[in-house]
Order: sequence, then C-alpha cells, then structure tokens
Amino acid sequence: MSDFQAPKGVPDYLPPDSAQFVGVRDGLLDSARRAGYGDIELPIFEDTALFARGVGESTDVVSKEMYTFADRGDRSVTLRPEGTAGVMRAVIEHGLDRGPLPVKLCYAGPFFRYERPQAGRYRQLQQVGVEAIGVDDPALDAEVIAIADAGFRSLGLDGFRLEITSLGDDTCRPQYRELLQDFLFKLDLDEDTRRRAEINPLRVLDDKRPKVREMTADAPVMLDHLSDAAKQHFDTVLAHLDALGVPYVINPRMVRGLDYYTKTTFEFVHDGLGAQSGIGGGGRYDGLMQQLGGKDLSGIGFGLGVDRTMLALKAEGKSVGGTARVDVFAVPLGEQAKITLAVLAARLRAAGVRVDLAYGDRGIKGAMRAADRSGASLALVAGDRDIEAGTIGVKNLATGDQVDVAADGLLAEVLSRLNRA
Ligand code: HAM
Repeated sequence: MSDFQAPKGVPDYLPPDSAQFVGVRDGLLDSARRAGYGDIELPIFEDTALFARGVGESTDVVSKEMYTFADRGDRSVTLRPEGTAGVMRAVIEHGLDRGPLPVKLCYAGPFFRYERPQAGRYRQLQQVGVEAIGVDDPALDAEVIAIADAGFRSLGLDGFRLEITSLGDDTCRPQYRELLQDFLFKLDLDEDTRRRAEINPLRVLDDKRPKVREMTADAPVMLDHLSDAAKQHFDTVLAHLDALGVPYVINPRMVRGLDYYTKTTFEFVHDGLGAQSGIGGGGRYDGLMQQLGGKDLSGIGFGLGVDRTMLALKAEGKSVGGTARVDVFAVPLGEQAKITLAVLAARLRAAGVRVDLAYGDRGIKGAMRAADRSGASLALVAGDRDIEAGTIGVKNLATGDQVDVAADGLLAEVLSRLNRA
C-alpha cells in the first residue's frame, strides 16, 4: 500500500476515465451556455454563516455535513456544500441585481459534504449548475428544466426521469405547514421525529423508515393546497414543458435537502444507480436573496451531479467522446529525426491536431506499441536518413499501411487524412 491515499469518499479521475469526466461536465455546461448563461467562478470556501442562513440550519447539509474550520485569522469558513448561496452572495455584492434581469449564470466545480461515503455519494462531489435571477416567469422555470434535460440527452443518456412538484409560496405554504403539523402531531412519533415535525415538517415526509412511511402515507401534500397564483404558475410550467417535449412525472411528495425552495421544484432520477439515484435537482428560491440581505428578487436554478451522471452513463453502457488521447503519434529514430519531428509536432498542434511523441530512445518496437496505446489513427515514423532525404513515413495505424511523404507537404497530408483540411 502506498504511504498516502486520497481522503475517504473522494474520487480520483485518471485517464482514460477523466475524458468521461470532462466530456460530461462540458456537455452539461454547453447546454447552459447555449441558452445565454454566463460563466461565474466563485470561491471554494465562504463565510460559514452564508450557508447556515442560505441553505437552512435544519438541513442535514448544514447541521451534519459541512466542512467547517477556523482559518488562521480565526474566522469560521466552510468549504461550499452547494452553489446557490455563493452565487447569490456574489450577485448582491457586485450589484448584478441592478443590471438587466434575469441575471443568467452557470458554473462547474467541486462541492463538499461530509456524508457517509457509498456508491455515488462522495465527500467531494462535482456539479454543473445554473441560476437565473430576478424574473418570476414560469417560462424561465421551463427553460432551466429543459436545459438540464437537453444536457443529459446530449450525452446520450435516456434512462432517467424528471420528477416535479410545487412547494407553494408564502401565501399558501404557512397554512399547509400547519395542516401538515396537525396531521403529524396526531401520529405516534418518536422524540426526534416529533422535533423534526416542529422545525421542518416537510422533512418527516422524506423519512425512509417503513413505519414512518406507512404512518405518513395519507399526509396532506402541498400540491393539493396551492394558492391560485401558485397553482397557475405550476400549471404554466407544465404547459411549457409539454410544448417543449420534456417528459416529467409529478411527485407531490418530493422533499429536497435544502430549505430555500419555493414553487417549482424538481429532480432528475436515474434508476440504474441504486440508492443514490438523483443525478440532478433544483427549483425556485424566491425568498433567498432577501434572506441574504439583498433585494427581494426571485430565482431558479439547478445543480447536476457530474459524478453520478458518469455512473449513469456507465450503467447504460455508454460513453462520451472518444478514448483516443491523441490523433497522431510521432516516432523519431535518431537525433536529427527527434528535432524534425518535434518541430512538426509543434506545427500540427498549432493547427489543432493532438500529437504525442515517443521519448527515451526505446527503439521502434516499444515506440510503435506506445503509438497503438495512444489511440492515435496516424503514426509519423522517420530515421535520420529519411530526414536527410526529406521524407517522413505516414502510417495508418488501423490498416498498417505506410507511405513516404515529403516533409514540406506533411502538414497538408496529415490534415487531409484527419479530414481537417
Ligand atoms: P442538490 O440536490 O443538493 O442541489 O445537489 C444537486 C446534485 O448534486 C444531486 O442531484 C446529485 O446528483 C449531486 N450530489 C449531491 N450530493 C452528492 C454527493 N454526496 N455525491 C455525489 N453527488 C452528489 C443543490 O446543490 C442545489 N444548489 C441545486 C440548485 C441550484 N437549486 C437551485 N439552484
């Protein structure tokens, strides 16, 4: 065993799997960028209070899972467990809310939750997210959801479903909360669960224990108690999704792990993943900005799990992009050939071709094995005598055919062989 291992519950992505990671992340981000979302890069750690206030003290994320520590200046800082609170902090701090609305932002990066590690549940997880701030239009809810759906599909994924519900707004949620509490307080609940029912009754509906599930099977659900405005909002979101051809199932018992959600709330679920089946989730968070000291602007967004999307692709037997590391592998056999091929490699790279070279004078056999392993479709092979004669051997690695090409025509020859001319 080596002296050091990665921290518990944290994945390393190495070649060639890392190409899957990059392909998934970029594919999901692309979907957002094509809809006009601008990249935002934020700190990995923030003031602890931002998450406590933004995500909610009663959530598992804040109460049990945060990586919180005092820095050397004795400030309490936390590795970000999610992205929305930080985005809101930055939007308020830099006055983006005073510019044109909606503010549309996207991001990708690591998040940290001290959860019990298991398949698909990591302590450093990667997300791609978007936030659309400042316009409460159900059409925007539908856009955000459609971007996630299109992002997953662009990767070739199709074994997932979108679950959606509405968590109401401040005109109907307080009454529903009371209704739910009345129902829960009549049940024979243990001490802990009772306390949870007092602080955040919705969370009791998320209890996985069969006994509690049974007792709460007939609990009232928010969807049956929406205000007229919230219901109209939800119906319009669904009408837009229908028109966009985004399939969904309504799940009135959905409970999200973060407290800021209002109105439209959704999750993307993949059945090939076992217990950790959520490949993405999001929703509206209309009170969040004000709660963080900003204006009373609405917002909607999502976070998609890159790690879990990779697992979902694997479960479907699919992969994104090729596994080839390079297009061309150069094999110099001699000192002069090393220089000439290195220069040609630099020119090809400048023209957008991915090129690697054999190093270390291992002889032609070892070098050709390295060429095959690289996934390249072409090898460039030359000894010092070829260089003197001004020719380079171009070998098709799939068929084994090799022809000599004049060195000054090599760039054009390679580009045309790779269909890049
Ligand atoms: P979330 O549902 O907590 O939402 O996380 C989003 C996604 O991140 C999940 O669906 C899952 O795929 C992935 N994820 C979460 N925890 C883990 C973990 N421990 N290991 C692997 N993957 C994980 C949010 O974070 C919200 N900020 C999303 C949002 C943005 N809502 C509005 N705007």
